[in-house]
Amino acid sequence: MYIKKSINMNPIPVNTPLLSGRERELLMECIDTGWISSEGPFIKQFEKNLAEYVGRKAGIAVANGSAALDVAIKALKIGKGDEVIVPAFTIISPVQSIVTAGAVPVLIDSDAVTWNMDTSQIEAKITSKTKAILVVHIYGLPVDMDPILKLCEKYSLYLIEDAAEMHGQTYKGKQCGSFGNVSIFSFYPNKHITTGEGGMIMADDDDVIERCQKLRNLAFEPEKPRFIHYELGWNYRMTNLQAALGVAQLEKLDEHIQRKREIGKLYQDGLQGIKKFQLPLKATEYAENIYWVFGLVAESESLKQKMVSALNEMKIGTRPFFWCMHEQPVFTAMGLFKGEHYPVAEMLARNGFYIPSGLALTNAEVNYVCDKVLKLSAGL
Ligand SMILES: Cc1ncc(COP(=O)(O)O)c(C=O)c1O
Repeated sequence: MYIKKSINMNPIPVNTPLLSGRERELLMECIDTGWISSEGPFIKQFEKNLAEYVGRKAGIAVANGSAALDVAIKALKIGKGDEVIVPAFTIISPVQSIVTAGAVPVLIDSDAVTWNMDTSQIEAKITSKTKAILVVHIYGLPVDMDPILKLCEKYSLYLIEDAAEMHGQTYKGKQCGSFGNVSIFSFYPNKHITTGEGGMIMADDDDVIERCQKLRNLAFEPEKPRFIHYELGWNYRMTNLQAALGVAQLEKLDEHIQRKREIGKLYQDGLQGIKKFQLPLKATEYAENIYWVFGLVAESESLKQKMVSALNEMKIGTRPFFWCMHEQPVFTAMGLFKGEHYPVAEMLARNGFYIPSGLALTNAEVNYVCDKVLKLSAGL
């Protein structure tokens, strides 16, 4: 199934999704029946199937993972004056959602080995204004949840879980996406399951579920006269076409996770002994890596740049790691994070990058990339 059709190795994109054929069948059903908007039946089916998979009361499908975070924060009524604890090393989406809600993001540095937020630094940042901890599981290993769950209980904080990269991963055997008062997923094509663009909110509390359903739909009031609004929301609805893809992809999630782990193992074995570059951690005591992406952290920024340029010249795709939130010009211009430093997050952002990690990679391609990376690293 994963055998490459030709042995031409160029180019090897950083990501290629895996669509199996069932997607076409379900998409055709949308077209044949005319159900292409968010009213179509695949929306409810996708929401139900993913909620069952993750072990939540409900899923609320939305346009993308960033939209899911906007809705999550507003659904919990987090706003002006509230503080939300969040990692410094993350994609901008969670911090953007906090800021646009009028709340204040309070940053936490990363752990140099797992690349996730360093949970030992959280308690010192909790104040009387803290309303929530927003965890972001990074690159394939989950955040260590037990200390965070304890803090949420001790200080009566909400837990928001950004599991955008973490479908099918577990923490101590429990599904990622099952921990937050509100948890979210993304289905962008580089994710373990894709809907092209798409996202899902997961929750158990009936009020929160209803608020999410309302907020994604222009805050129409289900029980009140239509076109009369008491609150602002968004049109963040997912289409039936996207949900059809989601239903088909979810059937393959376990297989996709298994394949990601195979790719991860091939890279780990192939790059074993590499000098000057840190590889992802294979496992912690609470989870085995699912390698959403296969990251490398160079000993220095210049070393990373040399490796990335050489790989790109060979048409082997790479992407830089996330850039830290306290170093984002947009937030500096707002006066946020003035004088703050997070040394581990800064090091990851400067020295980290990832190599081809998509589900459609063949073993031959992974071995080819290993060979090139090893040879290049020896000469740097
Ligand atoms: C951790 C994390 N959160 C949120 C998002 C945003 O998801 P989307 O691209 O669907 O808006 C991403 C996207 O990759 C992500 O990695």
